[in-house]
Amino acid sequence: MAERGDPGQGRGQRRRRDPGRGRRRDRRVYLVSHPVLFALLAASRQAPVRRLGRTVLVHAPGPYADALRRVPLDRLAEGTTAGAAQRATGTGGFLFDEDGADHRQARRDAATVFGSDGVSRLRPVWLEVLRRRFAPLADGAEVDVVDVVAELSGASTAALLAVAVPAHALTAAARAAAITAARGHLPGLRWPGGARRDRAATARAAAALAELLGVPAGDAGRASMLAVASVNTTMAAIPRAVAWCADDGLWPAADSAGTRAALVAEMLRVTAPSPVLPRVAAGAAELAGTRVRAGDRLLLVARHAARAGAPRPDPADPVPAAIGQLVFGTGPHRCPGARLAQAQLDDVLAELAPYRPVVTGARVDRRSALPGWARLTLRAAR
Ligand code: HEM
Repeated sequence: MAERGDPGQGRGQRRRRDPGRGRRRDRRVYLVSHPVLFALLAASRQAPVRRLGRTVLVHAPGPYADALRRVPLDRLAEGTTAGAAQRATGTGGFLFDEDGADHRQARRDAATVFGSDGVSRLRPVWLEVLRRRFAPLADGAEVDVVDVVAELSGASTAALLAVAVPAHALTAAARAAAITAARGHLPGLRWPGGARRDRAATARAAAALAELLGVPAGDAGRASMLAVASVNTTMAAIPRAVAWCADDGLWPAADSAGTRAALVAEMLRVTAPSPVLPRVAAGAAELAGTRVRAGDRLLLVARHAARAGAPRPDPADPVPAAIGQLVFGTGPHRCPGARLAQAQLDDVLAELAPYRPVVTGARVDRRSALPGWARLTLRAAR
């Protein structure tokens, strides 16, 4: 759906402060792309945990953390993130579907890539993209942040995997691999035969991604899985955070490193880029008084657990980190890419802040695996 631009927000024009504007615009990414799912989640959110048949909806932070830390989970089941990730990459899983000693070893190995040294190594790659692509703002030109982030994410992921693949091609392949795989793992309306067609499309997209990455067979699962996990979350997270900062006039908080860290945390909390974690219980448990049985489907609503809905983002008074950080999950499978994602968003906001950009146009992505923008244009306001 093409949406109206923001008349009257061009270069040199002052905009009135409207602190609710960021949230109103951001809601469109949910309402347009996943209307059934988000209506269901909103309707059931009053209870910390609610059972609907064999599905258990988990909204409150305590039970959400318990589900990720204590409930035995079937990591190979259909309808889970690991299941979707496996289909998206056409291989056995990497981290997502592992448990116990194998998983701990894989996480230790991944620590080199995701630790502060790994992030410092990649940083020049994305900084070069940002400085080159945002420079036209200084001349009054419009910039599409979604396209900039597609290049940033593709280039960073290629460097992370040490493959020489053009940035936009990598991003497009990783997004294509996730689209149909994700459709099957969240509730919603499907056309007859849709699941079969989605599986076939996913297999083709997974093969295309593996071929593009060109890594040896033994490494294909790991490389494809990282590309899918990294590109799809980044493409969802950064443009939404930028739109919200522009709409709520939050740029002054991005001027200094001290306040920017809190701004980054708040923007990740309110956008909750991976809003629902679908899991399947492998054994009996109890969550806030609700009994869970083996085979139950769990919808862990990261968006509600992290309090994305309220209060509005405030870098001067952020929600406690223990709550806000739940957008990255918790426990042994907590997102290993969190530091990288935070560092990238931090640099995006730092590079944009001097221009005090405003949104001139936004179009929701109706196909992406995670709610996000297909196009988000900005123009400098000073
Ligand atoms: C804002 C961006 C991101 C968000 C919101 C996010 C969120 C998540 C969440 C919620 C999980 C599941 C955690 C759990 O089960 O407890 C996860 C897992 C994972 N993420 Fe991220 N992620 C982001 C960026 C990234 C990036 C940039 C990468 C790679 C470069 C990455 C790689 C992974 C991997 C490999 C896992 C599986 C970990 C495991 O199962 O042990 N993520 N992420």
